[in-house]
Formats: sequence, C-alpha cells, structure tokens
Amino acid sequence: MHTDNVFWHNGQVLRASREQLLGQDGKVIWFTGLSGSGKSTIAHALEARLHRLGKLTYTLDGDNLRHGLNSNLGFSAADRKENIRRTGEVAKLMADAGLIVLAAFISPLRADREHLREILGKDFIEVFVDCPLDICEGRDPKSLYKKARSGEIQEFTGISSPYEPPVDPDLLLSTEREPVEECVEKLLSSLETGRAGSSSNA
Ligand code: ADX
Repeated sequence: MHTDNVFWHNGQVLRASREQLLGQDGKVIWFTGLSGSGKSTIAHALEARLHRLGKLTYTLDGDNLRHGLNSNLGFSAADRKENIRRTGEVAKLMADAGLIVLAAFISPLRADREHLREILGKDFIEVFVDCPLDICEGRDPKSLYKKARSGEIQEFTGISSPYEPPVDPDLLLSTEREPVEECVEKLLSSLETGRAGSSSNA
C-alpha cells in the first residue's frame, strides 16, 4: 500500500456543516456515453439551471480535463481507466466540499464505472446519455469519427475501441429522441424525487 505510514487527519469542519452552509447535498452526476452523444451539452445546460436555482456546481468535462489534470493520458484502456479513477477522486473531494459535480466522460468500460461507484459510494449518480452510434457519427461535431474511420485516429470509442452501455443506470436519456431541455427537466425531477439522488434539498 502507498498509504503505509500515512495517516488520515480529520478537520474541524465536517461535510455536513459545509452542506448546511450551502443548503445542498454534495453529489456527483456522472454522464457516460459515446462521443457526440450530448454529455457535455446536457451537463452544461443542467449546470446553468442549477446555478439559477442557487446551487453551487462544478462541471468536470473529459475534453477539458485532458488539457490539464489528465494531459498525460491517452486513449488506451489503461489510460482511460486512470482518467476515470483520477477524475473520480477529484469529484469525491468536490462532493465532500459540498458541491454538485457534473462529470461528462465517455467512461466506456463498466469496470471503470464500477470503480467510480466504489470511490463515490452513495454520491454517485450514473446517467447514461444514450444515442446510437450512427447518429453520433452523423453529428460528428469535431470530425473525429471521420478521422477514426480513415484510421487517422486509433482506439476511437465505438469504432475501434469498445463502449459498454450501463446495465442499470440511475437515469437514461435518449438524445436521439429527447431535446436537451427535456433531458434537463428529466434530470431535475429525478434529482428531486427519484432514484437519481435521494437528497431532499438539492
Ligand atoms: S474517456 O474514454 O477516457 O472517458 P474522455 O471523455 O476523457 O474519454 O475524452 C473523450 C474526448 O476525447 C472525446 O469527446 C473526443 O473529443 C476526444 N477524443 C480524442 N481521441 C479519442 C479517442 N480515441 N476515443 C474517444 N475520444 C477521443
């Protein structure tokens, strides 16, 4: 273990006190889905809504974090695993700070998402942004599918690297059928009442 001779030190201010101060419960809303499925778009739209409702939020976006914290990682299975683990640990700290974290990562492998559940426990809300590959490929906002098809990009999710859909997500959004605003409404109502987050005040 790397934690031999390293000891946990409890602070004087508890998570519950921070949450009381903020009037919300920390949680991590984790969006998984193919590139181009709409994860970031929905996460940012939900964040804007929550912000207007007076909630303190932060969005962790796969593309953005790969410019900084995760800039040393590529798209091999091992690097994706580390990308998700590292981000999960950051999200855990943010939820402990009382924030509502929105994380948008392809996070293609079930095992890596299961690891997130271990890291985050009850704070983890898995949202499957479901969209068929051919629709994502048709959208191709960054021309990445085109590059993946031509072989210019390797290990591209859905083309030359696997995507394992969640078996039992907390919430499923179908962006082929549901417009962004509808997805946001669905998220908001399930955060208030449903399975996606049992908190009463956020
Ligand atoms: S994850 O698989 O490790 O969760 P992450 O969400 O951080 O991926 O990054 C995905 C983004 O990186 C995509 O939206 C896309 O813009 C870009 N990207 C570049 N190369 C690849 C690739 N080989 N596979 C998937 N996404 C890629």
